[in-house]
Amino acid sequence: MSGFSTRAIRAASRVPPVEQRPTAVPIYQSVTFDARDAAELGEILSGSRPGYAYSRIDNPTTAALAAAVAELEGAEAGFAFATGMAAIHAALLSLVSAGDRIVATQAIYGSSRDLLTQILGRLGVATVFVDVTDLAAVEAALAAAPTRVLYVETISNPTIVVADLAALADLAHRHGASLVVDNTFASPYLCRPLELGADLVVHSATKYLGGHSDALAGVVVGSEEGIAAVRHVQVDTGGSASPLPAFLVLRGIATLGLRVARHSATAADLAAWLEARSGVQRVYYPGLAGHPQHAVARRQFGAAGAYGGMLAFELEGGRAAGAAFLDALEIPARTASLGSVHTMVVHPPSTTHRQLDAAALAEAGIAEGLLRCSVGLEDADDLRADFDRGLEAARRAVRDPAAGRA
Ligand SMILES: Cc1ncc(COP(=O)(O)O)c(C=O)c1O
Repeated sequence: MSGFSTRAIRAASRVPPVEQRPTAVPIYQSVTFDARDAAELGEILSGSRPGYAYSRIDNPTTAALAAAVAELEGAEAGFAFATGMAAIHAALLSLVSAGDRIVATQAIYGSSRDLLTQILGRLGVATVFVDVTDLAAVEAALAAAPTRVLYVETISNPTIVVADLAALADLAHRHGASLVVDNTFASPYLCRPLELGADLVVHSATKYLGGHSDALAGVVVGSEEGIAAVRHVQVDTGGSASPLPAFLVLRGIATLGLRVARHSATAADLAAWLEARSGVQRVYYPGLAGHPQHAVARRQFGAAGAYGGMLAFELEGGRAAGAAFLDALEIPARTASLGSVHTMVVHPPSTTHRQLDAAALAEAGIAEGLLRCSVGLEDADDLRADFDRGLEAARRAVRDPAAGRA
């Protein structure tokens, strides 16, 4: 008869046999998996046999998330990470070494920019930023020196620039570079970059894939070979997704199409409404006929017939008007994320792009008074009424700056 603790550990670790397949992916909240014998454990850990041994390397729930995103993106394989930044980090490190060069979109998420300039820059990887809507400029940047990676966002953060992925894939490949696309803003419902020639696609699954602001995760998808290289980086750097967030993102993915269709319909409604309001200088939304890349967006997102839930706008009166607008809103939480059921409005220069100095903000086309809105799933009428309140406060701040500061 074993001692109490031995019996307790065994008693608490008996996994119930389940003959009927669960219809939701179970949360395999286990770090370790018990192989049949030492030889099997060795084979699993060396990758010569499929299976699970240790959850940093692989876990059934996180693998199910990676497989789901790979399936929706039309990829052969994928790997799930703890965050979008961990995914981007592993994707880039799978491709570059010291001395390599990256050409990246200048309209880029602030942390992605810092990863390129501060972290990879320190390790001897140089990054040149270009306007990816100017294909001649991209070609010139690629031709200027051997380039390993062209890095772009399908819809950029925060200026809602739409990249022509087919044209960029062609340019990248002609110059021997791999195209890595951050498809976070679009989601595979709107756009599948691999079908347009991309080599790796990265996601902050924290955003639309999860959709409810309750789970952090990231995913990289691509060819078997590309993902094997990503895994190779990941095994030794960590950053793997945990089972509970992976489960939550899987639950979110089930309603991705419904959510993005509704996000898009409300965003299109708000964008057209904002364009017609006094005090609004400019609205950036790919579904508007006046958006500079509307034709590219129509071609790329046409099958979905939607343009996403992200829009941006500039108010007359710049930063002060923007602050008054934000403070008058009652529906959005005062926070900085996107892709959620909750509408979120942020001032990028002081939040998501705080890492950029004035010159970098200007280079990225981010005006001092720019506001970025992730349109949630609230009723459009309520959002319009709330934004009306915000616009009135912004106009008051312009008319009477002292009152605006009070
Ligand atoms: C376009 C884009 N990519 C990547 C990230 C990073 O995602 P995470 O916060 O999951 O690391 C973000 C975060 O806002 C983002 O907007």
